[in-house]
Amino acid sequence: MESTPRHKIPATLIPGDGIGPEVVAATVQVLDALGSPFIWDVQQAGIAGVTHCGDPLPDVTLESVRKNKLALKGPLTTPIGEGFRSSNVRLREEFQLFGNVRPVRTIIPGRYDEIDLVLVRENLGGFYVAHEYYIPVGDDPKAVAVATGVNTRDGCARIARFAFEYALKHGRKKITVVHKANILKVLTGLFLEAARDVARDYGGRVEMSDMIVDACAMQLVLNPWQFDMLLCTNLFGDILSDQLAGLVGGLGMAPGANYGNDTAIFEAVHGSAPDIAGKDVANPISLLLASGLMLEHVGKGDLALRLRTAITETLNTDHIRTRDLKGTASTREFAAAVVRRIEST
Ligand code: NAI
Repeated sequence: MESTPRHKIPATLIPGDGIGPEVVAATVQVLDALGSPFIWDVQQAGIAGVTHCGDPLPDVTLESVRKNKLALKGPLTTPIGEGFRSSNVRLREEFQLFGNVRPVRTIIPGRYDEIDLVLVRENLGGFYVAHEYYIPVGDDPKAVAVATGVNTRDGCARIARFAFEYALKHGRKKITVVHKANILKVLTGLFLEAARDVARDYGGRVEMSDMIVDACAMQLVLNPWQFDMLLCTNLFGDILSDQLAGLVGGLGMAPGANYGNDTAIFEAVHGSAPDIAGKDVANPISLLLASGLMLEHVGKGDLALRLRTAITETLNTDHIRTRDLKGTASTREFAAAVVRRIEST
């Protein structure tokens, strides 16, 4: 059996689909320059899984994540309206990655300055259980569409406790629970009720308030600074995290982490961006920042800080930016510029 060199940490690397292989290559290049501790086991999933192994989530990929308990993942394409079930959702279910953390911070001052927000999303329940079906009426096989959401008290309490513990660990003061308990009184009412129960244990340390999702969406545009952390159900967290990305420059600036009890998978918030795939124009910062969260997760906060500093200097001192940030740099040019910054410090 091969042994892992000392100080090295084995991790699964999933290049993914669309822009995935481009932003993953950029991230690995930067991590190499940093002297990161990771040793990669490259595996496929998504459309690339189908192409390589005939399966959107091959067993060999699952085995690798099961063994390493740690992965960095590019975005995976999911067919719309038909076809196979999301490999992202299946990965979360397989490894019980119940806690999705999506932090956003302003790096490039823009329309909104000094944004510093963390969204925690319940990652396994709600409408993502995909219990959906049609009821045929007459000659229309799809006359009625039905979806069932599932939240459990235990699942809601678990994500609430996770969010409050995160707040304590990271010096956050306030959690806003986002729900729609006026309409989805049962599904999101239970989420709110469980969060209120958990909040009692953190009284005097972390404040909790709540907001209906539609009002929250508007408040995030009018005055995002009123928020510190958002705790969301699965679907609302998915939607609002793209909105948060918009506050700091778009989907190219938004990292994410999926945590379970013993496994963690790091990724960008964005998808496979088929419209720009293969053109060497994608912004790799979201995945770079996600790899920073991965470094923190393995106790390498010093490297994460160096990475973040190098990204900030590349953007704001060297003014090297990709197209989505109104720059002209390609994905490779941006990565090379970050590497230069790392090597010069
Ligand atoms: P998307 O996030 O891939 O793209 C939305 C828009 O943002 C596009 O115009 C795209 O060009 C732009 N964009 C995204 N990332 C960018 C980057 N790094 N640099 C510059 N521009 C960027 O969302 P879309 O088009 O709705 O989804 C495409 C596919 O990705 C779908 O199959 C979807 O299921 C999948 N997806 C996968 C995710 C994951 O693996 N975690 C998350 C979200 C979507």
